[in-house]
Amino acid sequence: MILTNAHVATLQSDKDFGLISDGSIVLEGSTIVWVGAGHALPDEFRNLPQHDLGGRLVTPALIDCHTHLVFGGNRAVEFEQRLNGASYEEIAKAGGGIISTVTATRAASEKALLADALTRVDALIAEGVSVIEIKSGYGLDRETELKMLRVARLIETQRPIEVRTSFLGAHAVPAEYMGKPNAYIDDVCIPTLRAAHAQGLVDAVDGFCEGIAFDTVQIARVFDVAKGLGLPVKLHAEQLSNIGGTQLAAKYGALSADHVEYATEADARALAAAGTVAVLLPGAFYTLHETQVPPIDAFRTHGVPMALATDCNPGSSPLASSLLTMNMACTLFRMTPLEALLGVTAHAARALGLADRGRVTSGACADLCVWNAAHPAELSYRIGFNPLHSRIFKGTL
Ligand code: NIG
Ligand code: FE
Repeated sequence: MILTNAHVATLQSDKDFGLISDGSIVLEGSTIVWVGAGHALPDEFRNLPQHDLGGRLVTPALIDCHTHLVFGGNRAVEFEQRLNGASYEEIAKAGGGIISTVTATRAASEKALLADALTRVDALIAEGVSVIEIKSGYGLDRETELKMLRVARLIETQRPIEVRTSFLGAHAVPAEYMGKPNAYIDDVCIPTLRAAHAQGLVDAVDGFCEGIAFDTVQIARVFDVAKGLGLPVKLHAEQLSNIGGTQLAAKYGALSADHVEYATEADARALAAAGTVAVLLPGAFYTLHETQVPPIDAFRTHGVPMALATDCNPGSSPLASSLLTMNMACTLFRMTPLEALLGVTAHAARALGLADRGRVTSGACADLCVWNAAHPAELSYRIGFNPLHSRIFKGTL
């Protein structure tokens, strides 16, 4: 198939949108085999069936590279408590927060978890998302961590979407191990990681490195096991304070360090040297009324690729919109519309270790979005407006 009459934002480099007006894109199965100006279409493709896009904007399909979208219940009541003066950390220390979602997730059936998760997946698909990363971490026991990962894998069988899973056993210390984080890591987290990996449920290993969660020594023990299993790592780092998570992520050659509001210039340098992506999560920044903006200028100066994700979760970021995430990144973090689009495409792909996604180029996977828009800045500019015209997933409209 040939897509013709397209205004293509190829994102072939990070320097600009790589716009081609009156462009054509040739798809062969699930692969892009040619992209360029319509008048330059090679003869060999001239007889293929054509699909006229009416001059619409085409971009790579969007990628949400950090979500916790499989969970039980919701935390609207904690949202209310925070607005009545309680802080996120106070609620967590009082047994709410992540732990209250753990209780609800343990109690939920696999079927109920799937049905609930699909409502969020559908919202993302409706905005042109083609790949979603989904973490475990609301089970914190063997049975429920495995259940969450099975549900994440099942999503691919229910919807036209690709799912990448991350094992996040080191997300919080469950009530039954209160005050015994090391025992939790040894008795539950590491054995569950091994079991989940043996069942083919894990694509990467994540952790929450924070005062209210795990320190760098505890995370390093989980990362050592991940490395032994040949799994890539990533880390929730420097979200609420700086305790060295970003440096640890860089040391382990992590795919990404996520949140990073409290990261320093030295942390940015370490990420650049390691080739680690900074995943920025403006939905959590916004929801938690955070005021510490991630060190965007240091990331720019040192050439750290910045990805953007929803962090879709019931506590710190009840957000299921990649477009609103882009808008928030521009308005709250002063990222440019180009940085925002790269953040949900090329750089998000890199944060997931997907080399063939996120740019419109020959050889890439044919995951594309067609928008009722003339310029790519429109995708970040509007608030609460979805201009998606159609989505092409693995070559299928
Ligand atoms: O990415 N930071 C840790 N984990 C989630 C929050 C999870 C929750 O509050 O349920 C996050 O913000
Ligand atoms: Fe998160």
